[in-house]
Amino acid sequence: MEKRPFLTHKRLKEIVSQYPTPFHIYDEKGIRDNMQRFNSAFQWNEGFKNYFAVKATPTPAILKILKDEGSGFDCSSHTELTLMERLHISGEEIMFTSNNTAVYEFEKARQMDVLINLDDVEHLTYLEKHAGLPEAISFRFNPGKLKEGNKIIGHPEESKFGMTKAQLFEGYQLAQNKGISRFGLHTMVASNELSSDYFIETAVLLFELIAELSQKLGIQFEFVNLGGGLGIPHRPGETAVDLNQVSIGIQQAYEKIILGNGFPPLSLFMECGRFVTGPYGLLISTVQHVKKSYKTYIGLDASMNNLMRPALYGAYHHISTFGQEQSHINPVDVTGSLCENNDKFAINRPLPPLKAGDLVAIHDSSAHRYAMGFNYNGRLRSGELLLKEDGSFVEIRRPENVEDYFQTMIF
Ligand SMILES: Cc1ncc(COP(=O)(O)O)c(C=O)c1O
Repeated sequence: MEKRPFLTHKRLKEIVSQYPTPFHIYDEKGIRDNMQRFNSAFQWNEGFKNYFAVKATPTPAILKILKDEGSGFDCSSHTELTLMERLHISGEEIMFTSNNTAVYEFEKARQMDVLINLDDVEHLTYLEKHAGLPEAISFRFNPGKLKEGNKIIGHPEESKFGMTKAQLFEGYQLAQNKGISRFGLHTMVASNELSSDYFIETAVLLFELIAELSQKLGIQFEFVNLGGGLGIPHRPGETAVDLNQVSIGIQQAYEKIILGNGFPPLSLFMECGRFVTGPYGLLISTVQHVKKSYKTYIGLDASMNNLMRPALYGAYHHISTFGQEQSHINPVDVTGSLCENNDKFAINRPLPPLKAGDLVAIHDSSAHRYAMGFNYNGRLRSGELLLKEDGSFVEIRRPENVEDYFQTMIF
């Protein structure tokens, strides 16, 4: 089945006549409806919260929409915490999951009184020494061989993130000895995962671990964070994760392992980014040149600095064209302008004939896209627009200009 952009060709042409390509455009209604579906699927858990992974779309207008819809926020750095501060969001609306964390980042996290999730036992003492201990602490579990990884996130046992089970025991005991009274457990083992069972199995793993830690250490857990990684169907024909199925599976495991064994209720947290905003963004670009050498290259006015997942992971991003003859489809490479041969949005992609001036929409551009951008070759990042519920659009981030590029340079 063809993936449909949320904009008609006519509306797109109107927007492009007022705002030159390339740009990302996000669908406000799509994001709001999706957040509402997410919260309602997990309403059986009173404390449920998705802490949106700020790294996915660190754009204030989007973060405000998510806040409006009851989202929490997962921050990974001092800068992301500062972004939250500027949006007047602090305290336990934020979970700070960082690794190889610097003193100034822990200081900021403590100053904003956010929930802190530690990546190592040593970090507890480090935190105490440099920033002071909070009331609540969470540790990140790395299940090693107990969970399979994938292409994006790698194999857990080779991943630099999180702690072994033995280290968790050590960590919670140390935290308890240091007077910490509130506990959570976190893991993040998936990325763009479309299997419902994967998340249910992760929940079972964490619930069983909480049961064991609680029993052996005599501590009470307050929350469990299953991490992010819920996938979205990038390719036509892929099936979206059935959120209700994930939720029912997790609920059954929770009732059996946690409530069924007399453990106190837990708040269920997740920290999905891609699932929340990913499908509701398009990178709109214009064909600049069509070049024929050994292959046909469709050169766009956007480059991989606007969307680098295809270059980074060989990821598939669907490309919609508008109004071309569908009977003459041929494989082409869709490229940008960087002096890197992996600056390609698609390789051997069957597309109808395109010519300079035609518009294309590259799908699923609103999570881990703009934010991963960079300035190699002096290429500047494009702007971001929000398509509002009434069909109008507003600029929510201006494009970079040459002066931005020079701003940090010392001449
Ligand atoms: C710790 C952590 N949480 C959450 C996320 C969000 O992942 P996704 O957008 O795939 O849900 C990431 C992504 O890199 C992450 O590193």
